[in-house]
Amino acid sequence: MPKMGSHARCRPSLPGLFLPLLLLLTPSAAAPTTKPYINSTADYSTECKTCPHSLCTNKQYYISGDSLNATCWTRGTKIAGDTLWLRTEAGCYVTQYDIAEYDGDYTAVLEYCGKDSEGEDLTEEDGTLQYKTECRICPDLQCDVVAYLPEETDVTLTCWTDEGQTVIDDPIWLKTRNNCYVAEIGLYSKPDTTYLDNCGPIPFLEIELHNNENVTSEVDKRNAFPEPVIHSPHYLINVTVGEDFAYCRDRPDVSGKIEKRYPFNSEVWLQCLVENNGTWWSETTDFCYVKNSDFWESPEGDYYRNPLCAYFGEPPS
Ligand SMILES: *[C@@H]1O[C@H](CO)[C@@H](O)[C@H](O)[C@H]1NC(C)=O
Ligand SMILES: *[C@@H]1O[C@H](CO)[C@@H](O)[C@H](O)[C@H]1NC(C)=O
Ligand SMILES: *[C@@H]1O[C@H](CO)[C@@H](O)[C@H](O)[C@H]1NC(C)=O
Ligand SMILES: *[C@@H]1O[C@H](CO)[C@@H](O)[C@H](O)[C@H]1NC(C)=O
Ligand SMILES: *[C@@H]1O[C@H](CO)[C@@H](O)[C@H](O)[C@H]1NC(C)=O
Repeated sequence: MPKMGSHARCRPSLPGLFLPLLLLLTPSAAAPTTKPYINSTADYSTECKTCPHSLCTNKQYYISGDSLNATCWTRGTKIAGDTLWLRTEAGCYVTQYDIAEYDGDYTAVLEYCGKDSEGEDLTEEDGTLQYKTECRICPDLQCDVVAYLPEETDVTLTCWTDEGQTVIDDPIWLKTRNNCYVAEIGLYSKPDTTYLDNCGPIPFLEIELHNNENVTSEVDKRNAFPEPVIHSPHYLINVTVGEDFAYCRDRPDVSGKIEKRYPFNSEVWLQCLVENNGTWWSETTDFCYVKNSDFWESPEGDYYRNPLCAYFGEPPS
């Protein structure tokens, strides 16, 4: 026996008598219990999305303590075991997990937003990483790292933002299907953003509170900055050679084969760090290694928080 759900109700093949009967019964049965809205408060920063799924773009966001009115309920990405999402007065969707706990059943008190509200409308474009890239929960260096992606990783991009941190000279970040953001500068080519949605306004998010599904590698365990950094370093890092020549070797070791020589005062872009027997080295965007002491700056210092190359693992073959 098939269940009589909302699908069955729409089927044109139903007997003519049955349809009017349901239309009569449904509103009168629901009317006494529904309310136009339930007021609530955001427990912490939460994205209000154009559709009820993690990958949907944002229409706006609420920060901790903001009040909102939930006007109807729908189903979307399962968050902490629950697929219930709520449409707010702003006409966008929040997961109930991020707002004040409601002592009741939203689905009994509010109207259902309708079948159409459950859809996931995404734009997509393929990309491949040229450099080791941190995929972050929000598009800023201070945001938690969700995944360390090695060079040659294929990513599916879903939306773009220019509200993130500028890296070298590029302010664009892109959200991947793994629900984290990569800086455009790490990609081989700039995606054509005319075919991608804008991600909308993005709040500061933390993995602790906004757990992501489908991460591709271990979550970063580094501590957050104790206080905001005013002059933030830019990833990739741009440093300057402080010796007559900086030799770039095929491995982080003075006996490694020399692959490149960077002259005095030239700018070099760095991807990540390696420590070898007490000496710090950096992998450059030429995929060879320079001793950090050959630069004016100290790429291993706290100021940069440059990641270890080991975090990224081997590139896909
Ligand atoms: C809902 O509104 C009432 C009255 O303004 C207020 O006392 C209550 O704290 C609000 N509830 C939430 C969850 O914000
Ligand atoms: C919620 O609805 C009430 C009643 O219409 C209104 O006074 C209040 O401003 C609304 N809250 C928000 C956050 O829109
Ligand atoms: C790299 O850094 C130098 C000095 O630190 C700066 O003058 C230069 O503009 C930077 N280059 C880029 C491409 O950001
Ligand atoms: C996570 O992965 C599962 C299985 O591959 C997929 O069905 C689901 O849509 C993914 N969720 C997100 C948010 O990408
Ligand atoms: C590590 O460095 C120390 C002193 O700099 C040196 O004596 C030792 O041989 C080095 N070990 C290796 C494995 O290179």
